[in-house]
Amino acid sequence: MTAIGPKVIIHGGAGRSLGHRGGVAAIRQELYTIVGQIYQRAQAGGTARDCVILGCELLEDAPRFNAGYGSVLQSDGQVRLSAGLMDGQTQRFSGVINASRVQHPIALAAYLQAQPDRVLSDLGAMELARELRLPPFDPITDQRLQEWLQERTHNFQNAMAGVVAAPPDGADGGAASARRGTIGVVVLDQAGYLAAGTSTGGKGLERVGRVSDSAMPAGTYANPYAAVSCTGIGEDIIDAALAVRVVVRVTDGLGLAAALTKSFAEATANGRDFGAIAIDHQGAIAWGKTSDVLLAAYHTGTTLGDTLELPPGTQTGHC
Ligand code: GLY
Repeated sequence: MTAIGPKVIIHGGAGRSLGHRGGVAAIRQELYTIVGQIYQRAQAGGTARDCVILGCELLEDAPRFNAGYGSVLQSDGQVRLSAGLMDGQTQRFSGVINASRVQHPIALAAYLQAQPDRVLSDLGAMELARELRLPPFDPITDQRLQEWLQERTHNFQNAMAGVVAAPPDGADGGAASARRGTIGVVVLDQAGYLAAGTSTGGKGLERVGRVSDSAMPAGTYANPYAAVSCTGIGEDIIDAALAVRVVVRVTDGLGLAAALTKSFAEATANGRDFGAIAIDHQGAIAWGKTSDVLLAAYHTGTTLGDTLELPPGTQTGHC
């Protein structure tokens, strides 16, 4: 039993500038509400894994973020969802890749924690949802559909969709200009165990069959020492094996802040484009990004904080 107490950090993606303060305030409010709900569950004795599942489901339900309901559409106009979950206590990874018509892909990943086959792709994930009697769910919002239709009008000139859903006129603060969305949750529970989860609709506009980092250890990883969830360009996260890279560094004795600093210095040198959130077993919370913004918020047990207004470019921080 540890006296450290629960710690929580969540993210809603990383990308370009959020525009004016109106957009920032709305996103901050939504992230604080969700991080508060997760913290409450942890304080009531919820396990790190259960708290991560709760947090991912709340973020999957929020249409602003690119996961679950409100996910971006792929090149063929369909939404395909990927989620990864890693329990640091059992050191077990599970996930679904390109699942269709499910409300909470993280719930499928959670179910798979106890199964012999722990990572399922599209057809297998659909069959599992049917086996579990989950009702079919349409995750496409009008706004995401309009974004895709607009891209089609312009013959798909953008390589990716926007990370944060926003009206075309930028009425919520120009947030549509931000890109590279995913959601993620990392928790240290009262018993001192860690877990991480990540969920995404992918990059948006990608070719059918493209596989995200979120349901790979590159994007979601945890052990008894540290837990990490990543966001950003999946291909860059995979190339860096980012979540594993940070966790192994901490396991081998580097402090969490130093592990993030070293990993993001390497990212800058290698021209990578991503962000990450992390917690270690001693209760340190840390984050890093190479992009303009990282939409992360945390609860230390005494204070709420966020990374919404960091300077653009590579930054790491901790508390
Ligand atoms: N990081 C989410 C993706 O690239 O799919």
